[in-house]
Amino acid sequence: MSWLASVITLFPEMFPGPLGQSLAGRALEDGVWSIRTHDLRAHGLGRHRAVDDTPFGGGAGMVMRPDVVDAAIGAATEGLDLPLVYLTPRGRRLEQADIRRFAAGPGVALLCGRYEGVDERVLEARAVEQYSIGDFVLSGGETAALVLLDACVRLLPGVMGSEQSGVEESFSDGLLEYPLYTRPAEWQGRAVPPVLLSGHHAQVEAWRKQQAEDATRVRRPDLWAAYADRTPQRNGLPVRAGFHN
Ligand code: ADE
Repeated sequence: MSWLASVITLFPEMFPGPLGQSLAGRALEDGVWSIRTHDLRAHGLGRHRAVDDTPFGGGAGMVMRPDVVDAAIGAATEGLDLPLVYLTPRGRRLEQADIRRFAAGPGVALLCGRYEGVDERVLEARAVEQYSIGDFVLSGGETAALVLLDACVRLLPGVMGSEQSGVEESFSDGLLEYPLYTRPAEWQGRAVPPVLLSGHHAQVEAWRKQQAEDATRVRRPDLWAAYADRTPQRNGLPVRAGFHN
């Protein structure tokens, strides 16, 4: 049984989209994961197969009807025990720990919203988990679903070579990645940091750790604060063997 993505959407043609290419595409062909789309329109009402209506209380835009969404969820999850996730800017921020949890299970059912969103009652009734991929507003949940699936699929066993799998571990320590360099050793007057050419493995590791910490402190104070909380401190700086702050 391969890892299953069961996607509820008004735009089934958007899947697998970019996930039909490259590593994810190969894994899809190899049956490591599979994808089923469920067209919300198939559960629409009346001659026009309506899936939305105007918001009670007034306001702009349209709201996806709970009865229609519920029927689609029923079809997408029947006989399956998958976490059900609604992609919305109102959700909790999606993090690597969530991705790891989804990837470790049998798959995920994803509800992609359009218009202003989904009637709250069906989210309650179906105990839907709500996640946002960041503090910006997309035109619909489909691209967010593709982001979530990309992050999950690359963690499935056998999808990435062993040389790549460590990349995930290094984000797991809560720091941003160190900067990368390759040939040529000098390019447009810019030299590669000499330590990387030194052949001193321990010095390379120490330099990379320092770079990762510096980048995290400057660019992501939120991650840095969490990292510093977990790391033994001396003079406000993380303490490491062989280093004197
Ligand atoms: N749908 C619209 N915007 C979104 C976001 N930022 N994250 C997840 N789903 C969304």
